[in-house]
Amino acid sequence: MKKIKRELQHIGKNQTRNFLNLLLARPLRMSNFKSMTLDWDDVELVNNLLLNHSSWQDTKIVSQYESEFAQWNGSKYAFAFMAARVALSACIYALDLQPGDEVILPGYTCVVVPNAFKWAGVNTVYCDIELDTYGLDIKEVEKKITSKTRAILLHHLYGIVCRDYEAILDLAKRHDLKVIEDCAHSTGAEYQGRKVGNFGDVAIYSSEKSKIFNTIQGGLAVTNDECLAQRIQEYYNQASLPDENLIERQLNNVLLEFYQFKHPQSWWLGDIYHLLHGDCVIYTTSNQEMQGIRPADYGMKMPAPIAAVGLNQLKKIDYYIDLRRKNAQTWDLWCEKNNYQKPLVIEGSVPSYLLYPVLVEPEIKQNVKWWGFKKFNVSVGDWFTSHLHPVPGKIPGCKNADTAVERCINFPTLNQMCKFPAS
Ligand SMILES: Cc1ncc(COP(=O)(O)O)c(C=O)c1O
Repeated sequence: MKKIKRELQHIGKNQTRNFLNLLLARPLRMSNFKSMTLDWDDVELVNNLLLNHSSWQDTKIVSQYESEFAQWNGSKYAFAFMAARVALSACIYALDLQPGDEVILPGYTCVVVPNAFKWAGVNTVYCDIELDTYGLDIKEVEKKITSKTRAILLHHLYGIVCRDYEAILDLAKRHDLKVIEDCAHSTGAEYQGRKVGNFGDVAIYSSEKSKIFNTIQGGLAVTNDECLAQRIQEYYNQASLPDENLIERQLNNVLLEFYQFKHPQSWWLGDIYHLLHGDCVIYTTSNQEMQGIRPADYGMKMPAPIAAVGLNQLKKIDYYIDLRRKNAQTWDLWCEKNNYQKPLVIEGSVPSYLLYPVLVEPEIKQNVKWWGFKKFNVSVGDWFTSHLHPVPGKIPGCKNADTAVERCINFPTLNQMCKFPAS
């Protein structure tokens, strides 16, 4: 009964929006920002995988995915896990961060990032960000270094290379600190002709469904250092694989996401698919994780069928990143015309624009879904809604992060019309 009520509410909301679009003579389905890199070829691949379980144990597919990603990324070693947060846990292990050690990280991030440190007993020291690119502010980082600091985690949020990149790397070197690059949003972004993630000691990338490329859930740990690679390998060897049920759910989610958001007839097919398969939706962050509790099944590595989806996504990754860059120019023009500050592109960098962040009036952010629907008929994002998104609460002493929480919205850089050309 509860399920039927929930489904009816879901359909009612979608179809009301479609009806409003019809009245306003606009495309029926509002463009979503998630899962826009899924196409028919992914659907075909997943249907085959669901029919044929014989390849599910084939570890060669996972190794191929890891080496193709490493090669594409210009890195020596890559290890595939079920999420970037797990890749981060592997990096924490590889760097031998111990209970009581301190890590400096932005006070404007996703809650799963500090969770990975907390679960290893590492103390998190939050630092304010700058508002040009939403990265760590070097002046603030310097103030936070103590005798216990062992590492700095920097990020390139929304796919934009962080403003103080070189200064942070330099500071870390001077203080003998390790650098973890959180590239969960910035796969494919470049600095001085190299992909980000290759400048620190270790880096993490995400292929979760809202990211640059999509395996529904997934992440990679990357390094160019042989000793660190050996340590990540140790963590990897101990990690378990998801069971067949979870793999099947994840594959079904590829279909669900495609029919809900990308299919040309998603305005009605999405609801039918949701009605039939809504039960298998995968929520990226569990309630337990939001409360800071380590889930029992945390820490898994990537199985072959998901790596197969990853390999297919890698075939199109450059195409879609190029499109994101082109579409970002439209938002550049919108900012110029409407007197909003464009995100800063630091010299020598090429962003990959997972999203296009803009600081707007707080009233707009409070109603951003409706505002985005009315103004552009696209799903405008509200990342991040709190300092440790999506968990409510504040980190004291992070004024710029306060501003970003209050005012940063994100425009999508891909839409339903973007399609990988069939060969
Ligand atoms: C900045 C940042 N880092 C890391 C992650 C973790 O990525 P994953 O969902 O693949 O664990 C996220 C998740 O959205 C994120 O926003």
